[in-house]
Amino acid sequence: MRLTIVLIVSLFSGLILAQDDDNASGTQSCNACEVIEKLKAMETRLKESENQILELKSKEKKTVIFSAATGGGKCGPFNTNTTFIYRTAITNIGDAYSPSTGVFVAPVAGVYYFTIFFHAGGKYATLLWLYKNNELVVMTQEHPSTFDTADNGGNAVFLQLVQGDQVYVQLGANTHVWGGDYHTTFSGFLVTEM
Ligand SMILES: *[C@@H]1O[C@H](CO)[C@@H](O)[C@H](O)[C@H]1NC(C)=O
Ligand SMILES: *[C@@H]1O[C@H](CO)[C@@H](O)[C@H](O)[C@H]1NC(C)=O
Repeated sequence: MRLTIVLIVSLFSGLILAQDDDNASGTQSCNACEVIEKLKAMETRLKESENQILELKSKEKKTVIFSAATGGGKCGPFNTNTTFIYRTAITNIGDAYSPSTGVFVAPVAGVYYFTIFFHAGGKYATLLWLYKNNELVVMTQEHPSTFDTADNGGNAVFLQLVQGDQVYVQLGANTHVWGGDYHTTFSGFLVTEM
């Protein structure tokens, strides 16, 4: 873009200078000056626009997407509410989720979408709470039963977060989920920055 304008400016100057050779009158040179000045002003404005475009590009939408599965390790029952660590990161674009602590930390303010799904044997209860900082947001639950050998459940939520907000899942005291890499997951992504 800038190159094109520089070319146009040089072309015009060349043309005008050529005309000046044929007509020494001052009026013509003055017109040429005006044209060159206008073009220079245009060039300045274009440079400004270019800088604005670069600035906007640097602010382009951030990508934050993660999915994690239970992985190895004990999946309950524990005798207290325990922050549940989904140890197998399936996808972790933006590294906002930590597979070692189980905590997602919002890297930018915006609306995020989270899901929790579980599979569990029917013998124990299951209680999974999704928290935003210290605030309980949504949960999913199954009651223990003797006639039902397996349970599945889940929940999902859109959450408006500010930068640094923490989202994590707690497993309720004396409840459990099924381990492994396929059944019980925690996922989230940034829908839009705000
Ligand atoms: C030179 O410029 C004057 C003033 O603009 C104009 O009247 C005249 O016709 C021009 N002459 C030529 C040869 O272009
Ligand atoms: C466990 O968490 C639930 C849900 O927030 C709460 O109702 C309950 O009091 C907690 N229990 C303990 C022992 O902290």
